[in-house]
Amino acid sequence: MPQLSPKIRDALNQQINVELSSAYRYLAMSAYCSEANLQGAATWLRLQWQEELAHATKLIDYMGDRGGGVSLKAVPQPPGAFQSLPDVFEKVLHDEQEVTAAIYRIYDLAMQEKDYAAQGLMQWYVQEQVEEENSAAEIVSMLRMAGDSAAGLLIVDRRLAERTAAG
Ligand code: FEO
Repeated sequence: MPQLSPKIRDALNQQINVELSSAYRYLAMSAYCSEANLQGAATWLRLQWQEELAHATKLIDYMGDRGGGVSLKAVPQPPGAFQSLPDVFEKVLHDEQEVTAAIYRIYDLAMQEKDYAAQGLMQWYVQEQVEEENSAAEIVSMLRMAGDSAAGLLIVDRRLAERTAAG
């Protein structure tokens, strides 16, 4: 397998940072929900934290298979405060849409560079983003239906508690 081109290597290093930054935001959101006694959401978000770490390590492992060149960058401080459970998940959806855009940019680059193997890797992330955006959009939709109803929020929180694994 040929080594990564410098452009793809830089893009994958950037994406590792995107995934780790996303993980860190999920961890912050989980802590907020836990403190707000929304344990279902806290559990869901903690599992998503693990999933984002797995997305980052998958990229690190892939770079190792293609000649290396991993260069970890500083992870920005995540937001520390959120307004409400709906606010958290509106941000989740927005963040995931931005991650999808970043994946698409790397896919485009892999096409320009005629790196077919990297296109295959990015295809995995493209599919993953379909799931991630879908689940975030579903939760946002449930929360919009719940509106200001405390009972509605607790029902959504209980539903989020059903998630048992990352992925
Ligand atoms: Fe790794 Fe949620 O994107």
